Amino acid sequence: MIKVAVCGALGRMGKEVCNTVLANNDMELVAKIDIAGEDTYKSIQDASNAVKIDVLIDFTQPKSIFENAKFCLNNGIKIVIGTTGLKDNEIEYLKNLSKEKNTGCLIAPNFSTGAVLMMMFAKQAAKYFDNAEIIELHHNQKKDAPSGTAIKTALMMSEENEDFTTDNCPETETIKGARGGISYNNIHIHSVRMPGFMASQEVLFGSNGQILKIRHDSTDRKCYMDGVMLAVRHTVNNNDFVYGLENIM
Ligand SMILES: NC(=O)c1ccc[n+]([C@@H]2O[C@H](COP(=O)([O-])OP(=O)(O)OC[C@H]3O[C@@H](n4cnc5c(N)ncnc54)[C@H](O)[C@@H]3O)[C@@H](O)[C@H]2O)c1
Repeated sequence: MIKVAVCGALGRMGKEVCNTVLANNDMELVAKIDIAGEDTYKSIQDASNAVKIDVLIDFTQPKSIFENAKFCLNNGIKIVIGTTGLKDNEIEYLKNLSKEKNTGCLIAPNFSTGAVLMMMFAKQAAKYFDNAEIIELHHNQKKDAPSGTAIKTALMMSEENEDFTTDNCPETETIKGARGGISYNNIHIHSVRMPGFMASQEVLFGSNGQILKIRHDSTDRKCYMDGVMLAVRHTVNNNDFVYGLENIM
């Protein structure tokens, strides 16, 4: 039995993850951790002092995740990270720490298999288009922008092409931010936040006379659960550092 702890257990994702762990025969939910609520451990330290944890799954918030991950790796606790908002230098730090401590760490900005395929298709298309922009649309309680998925998509596309706005004329923003945020290799990312959406993303590719749109919509948080379980089973058996579910799919 894999002994699983869930950090952020009372959140939207955390609750779904706890239910999924409980429904899996090869896993045992040994700790629910959340700073809110009564019947949970208040910190990873409290939980790890009380119970043995094989893998900790973190779905908390951008401002907590770096400290949570450092604590886990420094204490030999394998971690699966769903929380978004980690900066490039923090990811690099965790990669080195994971290697140094020989403790598994898997970070996936998106655990939905369909969204991961969208990223893989976008990477493929990036070879053939010099112009591309990303529009991501989320519910209005999301704390970080752009989404981790959009950043990861841009990173994967940038591995295939050096500049995504090659023929654009010099431009002026009459309203600041109108052209979105500029990420890797000039990929513009536009973030929409409003009730009604859960998590959607469209990657637009353009060249002379054609537009290619690759779109993914998550309509239920259940779409992430297969990916989270895949990540737990990988991490319990490995001590490697993985960034992106596509690397274990
Ligand atoms: N990787 C993915 O596939 C994926 C999918 C959906 C959401 N997310 C990300 O997961 C994170 C959580 O999303 P959510 O919608 O469940 O948020 P949420 O606000 O509903 O839940 C977060 C929970 O974490 C708790 N929490 C915050 N800081 C904590 C800490 N230091 N220790 C313990 N508990 C803490 C809060 O009390 C809350 O219950 C966000 O960063 C979101 O972007 C990732």
